[in-house]
Amino acid sequence: MTLKLNNKIVTKYTKSSEYLSNTVFGDAEISITAGSGIAQSFLPDDILFSIPYHEIPNFPTTSVEGHAGDLLLININGVKAMVFSGRFHLYEGIEVSETVSQIIVSYLLGLRNHIITNAAGALNEAYLPGDLMLISDTLNFTSRDLSSVFDSINFRQNISKQEKNLGIYKKLNAILTTIGINLKFGVYAAVIGPNYETRSEIRMFRRLGADAVGMSTVLELATADILEMNTIACSLITNTAKEIPQLVTHQEVMDLALKSRLDVREFIFAATKLLIR
Ligand code: HPA
Repeated sequence: MTLKLNNKIVTKYTKSSEYLSNTVFGDAEISITAGSGIAQSFLPDDILFSIPYHEIPNFPTTSVEGHAGDLLLININGVKAMVFSGRFHLYEGIEVSETVSQIIVSYLLGLRNHIITNAAGALNEAYLPGDLMLISDTLNFTSRDLSSVFDSINFRQNISKQEKNLGIYKKLNAILTTIGINLKFGVYAAVIGPNYETRSEIRMFRRLGADAVGMSTVLELATADILEMNTIACSLITNTAKEIPQLVTHQEVMDLALKSRLDVREFIFAATKLLIR
């Protein structure tokens, strides 16, 4: 028995996917979730088309600075990618189903390949601002789950994707090394936020085996996994989460995302090639 998407959620987001299927987005081959400041990685010539989220029936809109709330059609070396510029976070006080709606709408549109990007703080001392970290596995500290999104209760084996992700990591790292990008690999822990972590939390997450911490991605990835979509997830390290007194600001995160945009673009292009061709 496979887990089924809840009927009400399917009805709601079929309105979104049907609307999109009758537009240029119906030609997309892959979908991408662009985290904080990450959509600015695309060059003006990459962008084929754009609509604001509020034009899409039943689709949420976002309130966070740096998350524009636009759906972009991007040309990635001839592959058409539907890019969600702006994601939905639990800290906005919304439903779990809304935070994973980008995955659900992509799935209902018939897409089976998805790239997730986010901004994260490094817990691993070897990881520095500007590094890209392919997500090997996740830790869920949001105390939320997908029981409202999927209907049938099923004690499904939670197969670790670490091995599969290691294969993806090796291939992507081989490509990116040739252009001077040294890809990292590690465990991403998610919290609700919107506050950044205390020093004690940072110490705890480190001891529990997390390499980076952020406020998204874990439930999105789990949804895509249950729907058996092929996913690649990557964190842009925007700051180090240190146990010494420090102040992390949203502006710092956004500034780093701007600085690293060309590396992020290279990563997205390489990951798309790996998934599609
Ligand atoms: N903590 C949580 N979320 C984040 C961080 C962080 O240090 N940096 C970017 N997003």
